[in-house]
Amino acid sequence: MINDIKEVLFTEDKIAKKVQELGKLISEDYKGEDLFIIGVLKGANVFLSDLIRKITVPVTIDFMAVSSYGSYTESSGVVKIIKDLDFSIENKNILIVEDIIDTGLTLKYLRENLITRGPKSIKICSLLDKPERRKADIKIDYIGFEIPDEFIVGYGIDYAEKYRNLPFIATLKQEVYE
Ligand code: IMP
Ligand code: MG
Repeated sequence: MINDIKEVLFTEDKIAKKVQELGKLISEDYKGEDLFIIGVLKGANVFLSDLIRKITVPVTIDFMAVSSYGSYTESSGVVKIIKDLDFSIENKNILIVEDIIDTGLTLKYLRENLITRGPKSIKICSLLDKPERRKADIKIDYIGFEIPDEFIVGYGIDYAEKYRNLPFIATLKQEVYE
């Protein structure tokens, strides 16, 4: 697995510091409020697990699983909900937690879907952002790191379901795709 790595972009330590910063910021912004966090499976799972332990306001967590039709390079913008929330979000402060925002099409769909359920507020937090590939106009309220248009893995993020358990975020060698 390690032999497939081209370059480490963010070390375990660097990620931990960023997660701490984001947790502090979120805790300040929601002071005196409760927060309902929605994790987008499976990629955001590792990030969410670390992030919630850096948040000091009361938190409820729930998960959604979505799949976008089309391949990675040609996201269609049509999203299917594979697993919906367990709880109602009516009148709740919602924070959607994602691993990467790429075209933004998944999040745009998800956000619009959740708004119809009557939340009190809705914000988005993503560990990584690839602004170069954006197709949907979507505001991300909390961003960990901006990255160039390169395919990355690790810290919960996969290529063909592999590499999620790497503790750092890295690019893959080209021959891995071939
Ligand atoms: P989009 O913003 O709708 O294009 O989709 C974002 C989703 O695509 C992310 O949540 C990831 O699951 C996946 N994705 C985008 N870029 C990468 C990458 O570099 N590595 C692994 N998955 C990625
Ligand atoms: Mg994802």
